[in-house]
Amino acid sequence: MIQTISLQNYTIHIGAIWQQWNALLHSLQPSKIVVLVDENTRKYCLPMFSENTNFEHFFVIEIPSGEQHKNIDTCQIIWSKMMDANVDRKALMVNLGGGVIGDMGGFCASTFKRGIDFVQFPTTLLSQVDASIGGKLGIDFQEVKNSIGVFANPKAVFIEPHFLDTLPAREIRSGFAEIIKHSLIYDAQQWQQIQAITDLQQVDWTHFLVPSLRIKQQIVEADPYEKGLRKALNFGHTVGHAVESYFLQSERPLLHGEAIAIGMISEAYLSYKKLGLAYIELEHISQFLLRIYDEVIIPNIAFSWLIEMMKKDKKNEQDLINFSLIHPIGKVHINQTSHWVEIIESLHFYNELIPQTIITN
Ligand SMILES: NC(=O)c1ccc[n+]([C@@H]2O[C@H](COP(=O)([O-])OP(=O)(O)OC[C@H]3O[C@@H](n4cnc5c(N)ncnc54)[C@H](O)[C@@H]3O)[C@@H](O)[C@H]2O)c1
Ligand SMILES: [Zn+2]
Repeated sequence: MIQTISLQNYTIHIGAIWQQWNALLHSLQPSKIVVLVDENTRKYCLPMFSENTNFEHFFVIEIPSGEQHKNIDTCQIIWSKMMDANVDRKALMVNLGGGVIGDMGGFCASTFKRGIDFVQFPTTLLSQVDASIGGKLGIDFQEVKNSIGVFANPKAVFIEPHFLDTLPAREIRSGFAEIIKHSLIYDAQQWQQIQAITDLQQVDWTHFLVPSLRIKQQIVEADPYEKGLRKALNFGHTVGHAVESYFLQSERPLLHGEAIAIGMISEAYLSYKKLGLAYIELEHISQFLLRIYDEVIIPNIAFSWLIEMMKKDKKNEQDLINFSLIHPIGKVHINQTSHWVEIIESLHFYNELIPQTIITN
């Protein structure tokens, strides 16, 4: 079965994608296809891709996996290989991988010879549900995430849920956080279904991907260049980004979604405090997230560092920090401000949910 989501400029195909993919190839007739992979997607995803692609002029570029390679040096390697292979403007780039491959490959394609066509084949849950809509492409620069990039749309996005079969459980959990977020900000009904999940290995992700993608679609189409409404997608991310940066320096960095899960608990608390989200709803959110995600304590000594980080992250006035909060579940309110004192309270609220026995510092 295949489902499609039609955006203004391109279509996302979800499910049994191969026929649609070959039809697109047939209509585009590219001079060559350049497939960007990392060592994992070369091993786990490229075989399925090659078997199902009816096209001879294939050219594979492999880069090392990981966010630390999402930088200008890797772009230079990609562009150089494309130059060496005489890639022309009629070529098509295929980004076969997670968000790192999609963001960087899309950026390299959109800038190579002023832009060649590209398609996204996201292979992680995070990239399928989040990076595949919105047209944001780019790389990290001077330690600042996604600070260089462009908005550009792919020719199409192909989501084959079977790619997830080889994805490590921790990566699945990380991507799941964005699905949870979409339901909390926009779809109370889906939140009900999500709460019934007990084993992530048993989930048919197609079932959640399509509604979740539609939510992101609605928000992004209403605000393609991030002027306002798109801030709705920041729920959990103001605190979450700061937490992610904090643990980046630790022995056990958190994956993006793991940090966002903590951020969603903290920001649900702020939603309770500032907007009157029902306490029982706050409890449901916290309990569910702590059931799925590891219980990570945020040391009290980190709080002021986190607040400084949040101040830097967004345009904020004095001691107030901007949030997108929820009330009730399924409805988001952008441009809500909280004082740092309240944010610290929300971090205490989070820490106190964690059994004291595992507090190590
Ligand atoms: N453009 C956007 O709107 C947007 C949205 C969200 C995130 N992002 C970006 O996405 C990146 C994170 O994406 P990610 O979480 O997909 O990370 P990732 O691309 O680093 O992939 C995570 C890991 O999974 C491996 N992998 C990928 N597919 C696999 C598969 N099918 N089987 C086994 N292993 C596989 C990768 O090699 C990597 O080691 C960040 O750079 C973030 O900025 C962009
Ligand atoms: Zn996110």
